[in-house]
Parts: sequence; C-alpha cells; structure tokens
Amino acid sequence: MHDPLPTFLSRPSFDQVEHLVESAWLEHAPFAFHLVAAVRPKVIVELGTHHGFSFLAFCQAIRRYSPGSLAHAVDTWQGDEHAGHYGEEVFEAFQRRREGYADISNLVRSTFSQAVGSFADGSIDLLHIDGRHYYEDVGRDFAEWLPKLSRRGVVLFHDTEVRQRDFGVWKLFEEISARYPHFNFHHGHGLGILAVGEEVPEALRVFFEADAETADLIRTAYARLGAGVSDAFRASRRSVAPIVRPVVDEDVSAPSDEMGLLKRRLAAVEEFARRLDAGQARLIERQEVEDPIVGVVVALEQRVAKAERRIARLTWHAGVLMPLTAPVVAAVQFVRRKYAKFRRRRRQRAG
Ligand SMILES: C[S@@+](CC[C@H](N)C(=O)[O-])C[C@H]1O[C@@H](n2cnc3c(N)ncnc32)[C@H](O)[C@@H]1O
Repeated sequence: MHDPLPTFLSRPSFDQVEHLVESAWLEHAPFAFHLVAAVRPKVIVELGTHHGFSFLAFCQAIRRYSPGSLAHAVDTWQGDEHAGHYGEEVFEAFQRRREGYADISNLVRSTFSQAVGSFADGSIDLLHIDGRHYYEDVGRDFAEWLPKLSRRGVVLFHDTEVRQRDFGVWKLFEEISARYPHFNFHHGHGLGILAVGEEVPEALRVFFEADAETADLIRTAYARLGAGVSDAFRASRRSVAPIVRPVVDEDVSAPSDEMGLLKRRLAAVEEFARRLDAGQARLIERQEVEDPIVGVVVALEQRVAKAERRIARLTWHAGVLMPLTAPVVAAVQFVRRKYAKFRRRRRQRAG
C-alpha cells in the first residue's frame, strides 16, 4: 500500500511519549522513535543518561518496533559540570522508571572510558553521545567509541546548537561531519546524526541527501513534533497530577539543584510569613482587626502554612519535587497582592 507520509516521517514519529521526565532532549523523542523503527539497531549504547528521558524513548521504540534489540545506558549517575552534580535519588528514580524495560535494557554504572572495554569492536549500531559537553570530552568519547561501531553504525550527538558555557559539540560536529554522511537538527539544542559505517542505513539517506528545501521541511516537521512533547511535559508539570504522582508511583524526581531551588523558595515563604506575622501584630495592636481585609490576610497565611506543611510531608515521602512549590508561590503572590491593596487603602484613609 502506498505510504502517504514522506519517508523522513513514519507512524512512530507521532507516538506519545510514555515517560515524560525533565530533560533537554524532550524534543527529539519523535525522531528517536522514527530512527529506531526505521533502522532497527540491534545494539544501542547511550553515553549519558541522567534521569533517562532519551534512554527510555529508545526503550519505548525498541519495545514497539524493534524486537530483539538491546539498549545499554552508561553513566556514573553522579552528574557533571553541565548537567549539574546530583545525588543517589536520581539513579534510584531512573531504575524504577526502567523496570518495565528490564528485559531490553542494561545499565553500566561507570565512566564512559571504563565501560568502553566491555563492548566488542564493531558491535554497536547506534551510539548516542550526551555526556559532558566540552569539546575535549565529546572528541574523546567519539574517538574511544568509534571502533565499537558496526558496519551500519550511526552516532547521535546532542547539543550541536549550544554555544554557551564552553559547550564544544557544535565544533566537533562541524569538523567530523565533513567526513561522514550527516544531518543536523537545530531544535531541542541540536541533534547531529552521523553515519560512520560503510553501510549507510537506507532509511537515513533521505536525511543525508536532502537538498536545502527538503532539509528545512524535515527540520520544521520534527521541530513541530518535538514542541508537542515539551508542551506535554510542561502541561504535566502544571496539572495537579505532579503533586500526587510522586507519592503514588514516585515517577517524578527532581535533580539536586531543584532541591536547592525548593529550599530557597521555602525560605522565601518563611521570611514572608515572618514579615506578615510582624505586620499582623502591629495591626492588632492598633485595633484595626475589624477591617475585613485582615481576615483575608489571616486566611491566606493559613493557606501558606498548610501548603508548607503539605510540602514538608510530601518531600519527606517522595524526595524532592519542585512542582509542589507552585501552590505555595501562588498563595504567597495572592497574599502579597491582597496585603499591598490593604496597605494602600490604609494609607488613603490615613491621608
Ligand atoms: C546531559 S546528561 C544526559 C541527559 C540525558 N541523555 C537525557 O535524555 O536527558 C549527562 C550525563 O552524563 C553523565 N556523564 C558525563 N560525563 C561522564 C563520563 N565521562 N562518564 C560517565 N558519565 C558521564 C552525567 O553523570 C550526566 O548524568
């Protein structure tokens, strides 16, 4: 039957993502699905997994479209200068997310250089390089792992479009892509594709041989599909679900820098509540309690206190999670607005 889609797209490009977790890779899931379904790489290795978004996307595609394939994740699960350093809870949460794919995936907890010896030369069909992003790091990762790539080997490089913080993937990709068939996505911080083996997978030719107009169309299509994934991620964070989900199935984790953010926000809430207390005491001293706005302020203070207690409780149960601060922040902003209005009215009355 005639396939109505252009060959750079397929049904899998439109699949829903099963595991939406914090990641700079979100917008590449549609291409990852298409790639795995179209190329069916037998052995996939990922260098740099963190919370596991890209890895779980590969696993999801293996499960649906590439039976018999196996994905290996290599990471110290300690973080680095670019991803941030994080604690054991990240690895634990990732292990729980991976449980459904235990039969098609394998974890190697070590540095990339330590792990490379456990893979046979010519054995890897798809290598995803997404560790620390200095030019020297990515150059070393590529050089050390290149002999492990199979005859139809393909390498993906994330962050080919990032120029800040001394990221050097763009530079390395620019240098080495001259030697191999390649394609570069510009959205989602950039994703470079390089076919390093003698046998270029047939399904990828449309990318490598695209003229400027087709390349632009390919980039637009995947950028649009990718935006759908990041929208879905943001929506999942905004909804009520993230408040309860971590407690229910512990499927949302936050990196340690989010813990820092959470603590800072809580400190701000405490400070505000302290000031509110002081202001409240002054008001009561002046026997202005009859003003109905005081009742509102008191009620909102109670809301803040309740939200804080909820955060403390959930944080205790589920580890850290930033979305929980949303109700507190909203409550605080609401209190601030009401309090400012109240003070304005008092000034007007006094004046
Ligand atoms: C950018 S994150 C990976 C993001 C992930 N691919 C995603 O989908 O969001 C980089 C990860 O690489 C790991 N890493 C960096 N350099 C490493 C090295 N030399 N050996 C092992 N792990 C490394 C860090 O611990 C971090 O978890």
